[in-house]
Amino acid sequence: KRILIFASGRGSNAEAIHEAVMDGRINGEVVGVICDHKGAQVLERAARWHVPSVVIEKKDYPDKVAFDEALLRAAVSFTPDLICLAGYMRICGENLVNAFPHRIINIHPALLPSFRGLHAQRQAIEAGVKVAGCTVHFVGTGLDDGPIITQTAVPVYDNDTEETLSARILTREHPTYVRAVAAFCADKLTISGNHVSGMHSEE
Ligand code: GRF
Repeated sequence: KRILIFASGRGSNAEAIHEAVMDGRINGEVVGVICDHKGAQVLERAARWHVPSVVIEKKDYPDKVAFDEALLRAAVSFTPDLICLAGYMRICGENLVNAFPHRIINIHPALLPSFRGLHAQRQAIEAGVKVAGCTVHFVGTGLDDGPIITQTAVPVYDNDTEETLSARILTREHPTYVRAVAAFCADKLTISGNHVSGMHSEE
């Protein structure tokens, strides 16, 4: 499958997907990276992989409609089978979601539907939960919604800060995302309404 990655910054999830493609755990290829920030670390990674990248910054467009159109045009030009949002800090336009139904997936550093949006790990600490985690889900038009593919739980300890919890969750994000992308690329996922079958969660 042709995998297109959308990312905004560091790109460690993107790196995990690329590594899994290279060593055969994912049956696919990373065909491109679309990034909304010049200078993001993920762009250096893409160059190292010899994968083309495109920067589309919101500030270069008069409004959201024009930005969303440019994004869709760029995405379509890669003819992807799957779009992976990997630390992409924007809500996808409806035009994109409708153009790729059930072909856009995202990783979120919380056990959805809890703690949507920014600073999910901080929200978890503030709520006093004892179990946090990450979720890979199909992307809908709302914020961090859409059918859940898989989740991994991570313990929260008494002395955790946003930083320590984020780091612990991130180590689980990488294998969780890889397993979900691998399942998608192997055509193992079946969607029915809000339910996705074909993949179990790991302990
Ligand atoms: C991850 O925690 C991801 O879940 C969240 O943003 C972070 C991105 O990290 N949406 P990276 O860019 O993949 O290193």
